[in-house]
Amino acid sequence: MKTHIAILGGCGHVGLPLGITFASRGYAVTLVDINARAVKMVNDGIMPFVEAGGEEALKSVIGKFLTAMTDGAVLKDSDVVIVVTGTPVDNHLNPRVSDVTDVIDQYLPFLNSSQLLVLRSTLAPGVTELIWKHLKKEKPGLKLAFCPERVAQGYAIEEIYNFPQIVSAFEADAEDRAAELFSAIAPEILRLTPREAELAKLFSNTWRYIHFAIANQHYMIAESCGADFQRIYHALTHNYPRLKNLARPGLTAGPCLFKDTMQLSASYNNNYFLGHAAMLVNEGLPTFLVEQLESKMQGLEGKRIGLLGMAFKPDHDDTRESLSYKVRKVLRTKMAVVLDTDVYQPTHAKLDEILKTSDGFILGVPHTEYRDLKLGNRPFVDCWGVWTPTPDLSQSPIKRTPSSTKRAEQMNRV
Ligand SMILES: NC(=O)c1ccc[n+]([C@@H]2O[C@H](COP(=O)([O-])OP(=O)(O)OC[C@H]3O[C@@H](n4cnc5c(N)ncnc54)[C@H](O)[C@@H]3O)[C@@H](O)[C@H]2O)c1
Repeated sequence: MKTHIAILGGCGHVGLPLGITFASRGYAVTLVDINARAVKMVNDGIMPFVEAGGEEALKSVIGKFLTAMTDGAVLKDSDVVIVVTGTPVDNHLNPRVSDVTDVIDQYLPFLNSSQLLVLRSTLAPGVTELIWKHLKKEKPGLKLAFCPERVAQGYAIEEIYNFPQIVSAFEADAEDRAAELFSAIAPEILRLTPREAELAKLFSNTWRYIHFAIANQHYMIAESCGADFQRIYHALTHNYPRLKNLARPGLTAGPCLFKDTMQLSASYNNNYFLGHAAMLVNEGLPTFLVEQLESKMQGLEGKRIGLLGMAFKPDHDDTRESLSYKVRKVLRTKMAVVLDTDVYQPTHAKLDEILKTSDGFILGVPHTEYRDLKLGNRPFVDCWGVWTPTPDLSQSPIKRTPSSTKRAEQMNRV
């Protein structure tokens, strides 16, 4: 008999690609989600968000191995239940642990002692243990594992098949069942304790958040002292393998990196200085960009500013926690007239008009469609470095006078 998998939060950015992946391996997968609109779209074979290769992969399994519904009663007939609902932080930047425990309690009546429950949301350290102890009382015999998701949003289907899967549990049989399950889709299984697995996932996201903050702070330092950061970046990375992975500056946002850095900090008595420093840098970049444009335009009051790209990452439609909205807010406090647009929003229809009528521009996110735009001589700010040609560093930056050129020529002859 086919293993039946139910995924709670199954029509979300993690749940849906995971469900498609298991379904494509022949598992019977049911996505359970409270978002009725997303459930309908999925059953109609339409991806509710941008995911590389998603639509094609969804169409190949929907109605055969995959189905979506809002009714959680289906869990009663499932061998495995995977939880991938959101795990945000609250207004004080502490993990909202009850978000995940409430979901488990909501579906508790449908769980039974023969099932494997897999937590896949990103959890603060200790939350797996908390849930394990809770379930031991409420559902004795139920097996619990924590198997974090490590894909980059938008590329999940491709990455799930290629990356090792971290598997953890408090009991050996739970760990073995989870390892067997994920062996169907992942090339390798890495076994950690639940605490190690929780930290591994958080370390991965906070490392990226800090890495981007380094680029962002270096960008702000360079530009503040009149140096062109993109030229420096090119010099640092050109044929210099040690720095080939150096991050580029950019608005560092999205639903995971910031909140996971804060989750880690909260679990370490808020002594995660690197994480907090990164937050100050990354969250400070929008104001810096606006001030750069303000200085180039000698003020922003009444000026029409085209803000291109509202998503949190290039070529993606997700605007969750996007810092482009902070840029817009800061521009408005300077009394600029903001004309924002995004390729994935209805405002895209206004792009031509925005390009024609704006006095200046800020690049919010470098969607492919924005890379080769003609802005004329109008001022712009682009921390991503896509609107300036790759510098030719074999040419001297020194502005030559006719006499110095002549002298150089003479010296060359000697
Ligand atoms: N987005 C990513 O690329 C990514 C990558 C790795 C890990 N994560 C982690 O995965 C988790 C989910 O993130 P996401 O981006 O997929 O979030 P999401 O908001 O895209 O998906 C969550 C889904 O859960 C549904 N949901 C909420 N409450 C529910 C309930 N009570 N019952 C059923 N469904 C419910 C929502 O409708 C939504 O569709 C988070 O912990 C996140 O940190 C996300």
